[in-house]
Amino acid sequence: MAKLIIVSNRLPVKLQEKDGKLTYTTSEGGLATGLGSIYKKQDNLWIGWPGMVIEDTGKQKIVIEDIRKDNMYPVFLTENEVKEFYEGFSNETLWPTFHYFSQYAIYEQNLWETYVEVNQKYCDEIVKHASPNDTIWVHDYQLLLLPSMLREKLPDATIGFFQHIPFPSYEVFRLLPWRKELLEGMLGADLVGFHTYDDMRHFLSSVNRIIGYGGMHGWINTGNRSLLVDSFPMGIDYDKYSEVAASEKVMKLEQQYRKNVGTENIIISIDRLDYSKGIPQRLQAFELFLEKYPEFHGKVTLVMLVVPSRDAVEKYKELKEEVDELVGRINGKYSDIHWNPIQYFYRSLPLEVLSAFYRMANVALVTPMRDGMNLVCKEYVASKLDQTGVLILSEMAGASKELSDALLINPNDINKMVSAMYEALTMPVEEQKVHMATMQDTLKRYNIHHWVGLFMDRLSYVKIKQMSLETS
Ligand code: G6P
Repeated sequence: MAKLIIVSNRLPVKLQEKDGKLTYTTSEGGLATGLGSIYKKQDNLWIGWPGMVIEDTGKQKIVIEDIRKDNMYPVFLTENEVKEFYEGFSNETLWPTFHYFSQYAIYEQNLWETYVEVNQKYCDEIVKHASPNDTIWVHDYQLLLLPSMLREKLPDATIGFFQHIPFPSYEVFRLLPWRKELLEGMLGADLVGFHTYDDMRHFLSSVNRIIGYGGMHGWINTGNRSLLVDSFPMGIDYDKYSEVAASEKVMKLEQQYRKNVGTENIIISIDRLDYSKGIPQRLQAFELFLEKYPEFHGKVTLVMLVVPSRDAVEKYKELKEEVDELVGRINGKYSDIHWNPIQYFYRSLPLEVLSAFYRMANVALVTPMRDGMNLVCKEYVASKLDQTGVLILSEMAGASKELSDALLINPNDINKMVSAMYEALTMPVEEQKVHMATMQDTLKRYNIHHWVGLFMDRLSYVKIKQMSLETS
């Protein structure tokens, strides 16, 4: 029977070694969370990196055995590959460029070469597991070359590619010395998906201006093949988030946390540590809010959770220091013996704790400078069972296209962020409920299952259409 092979740089589990013992925890990031409920079905397989360097072949065998029962297969990266492929080319060249932080991007030939080698390594592993009728679904910017590499080895395979981060405009994308090779890599897929129409439009424009391929209605003709480009906004597992929020355990946690926080108003902020998330800008806006509205002193707390991420990369280390400093400065300036304006956590926390945070927050501040989609805002909405609460959302997040009932702000406009906080904290409950109910309806319908189904249906349609084009 044909199976689905999901491929992403990171597996949905993260391997750690404590006192010589291997342990497995859930990975951070939307992708792992998003596809979590799909890959365990039937004979499907998820191939990716377990998040830790293991060079000992004996230990590698144990990992293969351990995760095989959950339909996963590991690709082991060496220390140098982690440095040059993952930290280097993926996160110091592609990530900043694709998020419009090209001033942070580095362009180094040796990093590029390792990126090519590691994409090839993934390809070789997949070929070992794939049968001719299987569907291979490749995810994200770490594996942009993989679709073409797979196409070369498996010419008739059904290959989908989905990019979870933004695709920048041609003017930014063209800065990359390897722009042509990267596009050609992606074009090996039958279907290329993005979260938003704008990302798709930018990709088509780059393909047209850099390689010269054109087409109509999202179709690209490469001379010997046709492929489709389309947008598929990713949803969340809505029922999972609303069910956790309804559980006895989470309700108890919420009561306890509310008591401990102590203020009647709670603003929540939850992100991976990343400069694309706009954490310092958000803190500065909160500081200005406290300065402008002294009547809220002692009455509002910003509960800020920052999840550690990519901490070996220089820009992330610098950001950590900046956030620590800002939190310290604001708390130092405004705290009194009864009140700390910011409660700051730098760690990952279990789902139940996050859910209790979402429940207790009357405002969620989700203000990235740039974000492919952003699932935190969707999780917040799904967790507000009584339909109270206000979402302040950046226009630069893909999710803003669907959630127009949020208070939409430009994260560079600090005054607008401050007035949005005031508006959110003073919004009448009836008005909150109208907006929350509308957003919940949208997210319930366009959930993760809908997203997977839509992408898969479209992929089958492309295969049928290709056959009719070949025979006509
Ligand atoms: C984003 C990316 C994912 C990535 C995740 C976590 O959501 O789109 O591809 O896995 O961040 O980042 P990390 O570098 O820890 O894998």
